[in-house]
Amino acid sequence: ENKISIAIDGPAAAGKSTVAKIVAEKLSYIYIDTGAMYRALTYKAIINQLDLEDEITLLNTLLSTVIELKPSDRGQLVFLDNLDVTDLIRSAKVTNSVSYVARLPKVREEMVKRQQAFATEGGVVMDGRDIGTHVLPNAEVKVFLLASVEERAERRHAENLEKGFPSDLEQLKAEIAQRDKIDSEREVAPLKKASDAIEIDTTSLTIPDVVGKIMALVQERI
Ligand code: C5P
Repeated sequence: ENKISIAIDGPAAAGKSTVAKIVAEKLSYIYIDTGAMYRALTYKAIINQLDLEDEITLLNTLLSTVIELKPSDRGQLVFLDNLDVTDLIRSAKVTNSVSYVARLPKVREEMVKRQQAFATEGGVVMDGRDIGTHVLPNAEVKVFLLASVEERAERRHAENLEKGFPSDLEQLKAEIAQRDKIDSEREVAPLKKASDAIEIDTTSLTIPDVVGKIMALVQERI
């Protein structure tokens, strides 16, 4: 069977990873969370008190860093230099700093190289901001997920409350909007729908609805 590449892009908290994981599972494909890679580097930079705007230092740090994405029955685990950072990279501090690190062109260049290496055999579902535009420009299926800031903040808020985490809806809205702004306005590979991507507005859709729409696109290409 023909193994294709599937690119899923969109703004922060649009549900990309949730649907990407399910699609990957249905197809027995590999799921690659590229945001986790930027988060892992950001976490390391914060721990080592590096200047998050210092491109050369951040590039050199990345070049001596091993970031691994490993599937497990608890979902995808993220390892940074053999340390499990799966939960640590989701902290508010990392979330609100990562877009500064992801702005640095040399850091992106190295990340994109690593991401492309994961996808050489096909059979991947990759989510991020620049997958359809830069990382996998030849992906057979490209999806751009959208939802209003209100909707995305409310979903994240509900998730936080369910996990028993403190959560402030207005603050979440502001943080999501700020991250989208930095991601959309950067010079290199900004958040942008690829011209050949199919846009799916998830605002009034359930997770199975979105998965169904993507699977229909996949069936046309397999
Ligand atoms: O997907 P997630 O929200 O975990 O991504 C975290 C951050 O990593 C994004 O806000 C963005 O700054 C950066 N990112 C990126 N390019 C990607 C994936 C993520 O710039 N392909």
